[in-house]
Amino acid sequence: MSQLVVVDGDIVDVEEAHVSVLDRANLFGDGLYEVIRCYSGCLFELATHVSRILEGAKALGILHDWTSESVELAARRLQAETGIMEGEMYIQLSRGPAVRTHYFPKIQSPTMFITLSPVRPIPEGARTVGTSVITCPDMRHGWCHLKTVNLLSNCLAKEKAARHGVWEGLMLRGLDRSALPRTVEEYCDVPGELSGARPGDDVAGWVTEGASANLFVVKDRRIATPPACNILPGVTRRIALELAELAGLDAEERPVAAKELLTADEVFLTSTIGEIMPVVNIDGHLVGAGEPGPITKRLAEMYTDRVASAVCQ
Ligand SMILES: Cc1ncc(COP(=O)(O)O)c(C=O)c1O
Repeated sequence: MSQLVVVDGDIVDVEEAHVSVLDRANLFGDGLYEVIRCYSGCLFELATHVSRILEGAKALGILHDWTSESVELAARRLQAETGIMEGEMYIQLSRGPAVRTHYFPKIQSPTMFITLSPVRPIPEGARTVGTSVITCPDMRHGWCHLKTVNLLSNCLAKEKAARHGVWEGLMLRGLDRSALPRTVEEYCDVPGELSGARPGDDVAGWVTEGASANLFVVKDRRIATPPACNILPGVTRRIALELAELAGLDAEERPVAAKELLTADEVFLTSTIGEIMPVVNIDGHLVGAGEPGPITKRLAEMYTDRVASAVCQ
């Protein structure tokens, strides 16, 4: 079956779906997106994702006629028409096409499109035996709380990770260096920022998040995650915090120093697609015993149960 897509409310074949070359998402990255996991035909946390994109549109002054109900309806219609049960939904809402000027056009005709594809496979064992990550400079602008399509810096972090054969790039700010890298090679083809460091070393900087995931560290059974400032406050991050509370675990939102990554007992990532993913190696350093720790495993199990109960409803 050919792929279907919702464009501005109509379901069309992907071959017939057109977005203008003058769309401001294309010209300026002036748009927002969401990724939603479809489990057994159920769009998990759909309302939360829709609310985040509509809140983002409000924050950016993108004028549109969509409501939570109409976006949710379009998303559910697309799932029903495609019949995809295990999928990854992508929603993009941009300020739409306009003559190319930096300032916002007075009359906006926003573009919304939604796609649903089979879910991309996660590397085998990533959730059971854990994954490896590499650290890199966080070169993003300051509005990371909005899920915009300005993703070049995130792409660089993922590219660096891929070139080093690991899953995720962990982004650090406040690094002790005079100049940031200026080419892809300078950014990617160097080891992680912590590769030469030893536990106890006074490494500069703090960690924000992964290129497409939030970060948690666990030390002496206390969980910490960077505060919702200069990061994307993920839907999965919020659920992980809720689950930690339910499990009676001590969890806080606070700045996480880069050097804490060298001494953490457990580290894990959270994201819609990766769910709760243990990190067992950072820049070549083993995290804890180099295997998923008990708190990560507990939260991952609870997350699986949360998904299962949402799907059954
Ligand atoms: C930079 C960044 N942080 C965190 C996340 C995780 O967010 P969520 O749990 O809502 O998928 C994502 C997801 O795409 C992301 O791009």
